Amino acid sequence: MGTVNIGLVGAGTVGGGVVKALDMRFDHFKKELGLDLRLARIADKATERFAQLPVRDAVCTGDVSDILNDDSIQVVVELVGGTGFARTLVLDALKRGKHVITANKALIAEHGPEIFEAAAKAGVSVYFEAAVGGGMPVIKAIREGLAGNDIYSIRTIINGTCNYILTRMSHEGLPFADVLRQAQELGYAEADPTLDVGGGDTGHKVAILASLASSGCVPYGAFSIEGITGIAKEDIEFAAEMGYVIKLLGIIKKSGAGLDVRVHPAMLPSGHILASVNNVFNAVLLEGDAVGQILIYGRGAGELPTASAVVSDIIDVVRNISGNTPVRVPMDYYRSGRRVSIVPVEQISSRYYLRFTVGDDPGVLASIAKHLGDEGISIASVMQKEVDASDGIPVIIITHDAHEKGVRKAIAGIEKEKYVRSSTQVIRIED
Ligand code: HSE
Repeated sequence: MGTVNIGLVGAGTVGGGVVKALDMRFDHFKKELGLDLRLARIADKATERFAQLPVRDAVCTGDVSDILNDDSIQVVVELVGGTGFARTLVLDALKRGKHVITANKALIAEHGPEIFEAAAKAGVSVYFEAAVGGGMPVIKAIREGLAGNDIYSIRTIINGTCNYILTRMSHEGLPFADVLRQAQELGYAEADPTLDVGGGDTGHKVAILASLASSGCVPYGAFSIEGITGIAKEDIEFAAEMGYVIKLLGIIKKSGAGLDVRVHPAMLPSGHILASVNNVFNAVLLEGDAVGQILIYGRGAGELPTASAVVSDIIDVVRNISGNTPVRVPMDYYRSGRRVSIVPVEQISSRYYLRFTVGDDPGVLASIAKHLGDEGISIASVMQKEVDASDGIPVIIITHDAHEKGVRKAIAGIEKEKYVRSSTQVIRIED
């Protein structure tokens, strides 16, 4: 049993968790699994972090080049984050023939082709289980466990911050801004929560899942992303009255027209399997032609759940090296030349929740119905609230299946009418 030396870059929350998780099961890896994996070096500019960690005999350094220049290190674990320094580091490590493990979703989603091309050239692997869904082994499920399937649909709740905010809005009737502020005070949401609440974090993860499911390249930026900042507590209340919950969903569906990929808040029937995924929990609902439905549920973030995914990658790479199969699970389809055709969101069909804010005047409902009818949109249900009408009353319409293009055209027509008091809320329904 030869020793495999590992270099870890970044000893923050996830990196610290990896050091702890390796230490916790060190004897098991050696005795039971027969893996002599050695954390040889740890690099972090914040060198004061090392004193808090069970680093065993690892050499701790503030200089990442101590890892890159050490020829005995075969595996580099990148837990720095971002796409600047991390990209340079990963490309440099690959060029030197080192395997790379990363938790960096932005890096894979935005620079995947460049990274996998560099890995293929060097004959080494890139593993990235922790980049999507923290502790949930969803990457391995798609790359290996479900390799015999055509995965034709993935629907996922994959951002814990958004799910926590929507759950509290729903359970406690609080507005978005209040819950976000409290989440920041509790350390659940970042000081700058834009990437989470704006949908970008979900978008990064969805770009990776879509690429894996389609055996092609779906770059971040190639599909529509909407966040949760526009969801009002009234929408959550009206949705609940009609038997729905609102979740931020990543949606990937194969169709004759191409790959339908999008991120947006969606209404789910309250009995839907994803409707009960609450608080910081994540879930990925996959459908394969052979296997049918699979649900992976768990913690998508946090020190040890994310470390769990990184350590599983370390074990995989060490096993591959020991078994002399260094590129056991290739990623050669994730190339810039293999871009997948994406269905523009304007071309999708869905059921819709529409909340109009209108004057309480004769003929308003008939006018709204006419605009919708003129675009071939059939109404499934209508709800109007008798409230103080000074700044308009809510009229809620649920449609049958309709084309997005027609819905947008009808709304544009309705919003030109004098009775409209403010812009229309549109939430797609996912059954
Ligand atoms: N910020 C992410 C979330 C965790 O809230 O789920 C890391 O992907």
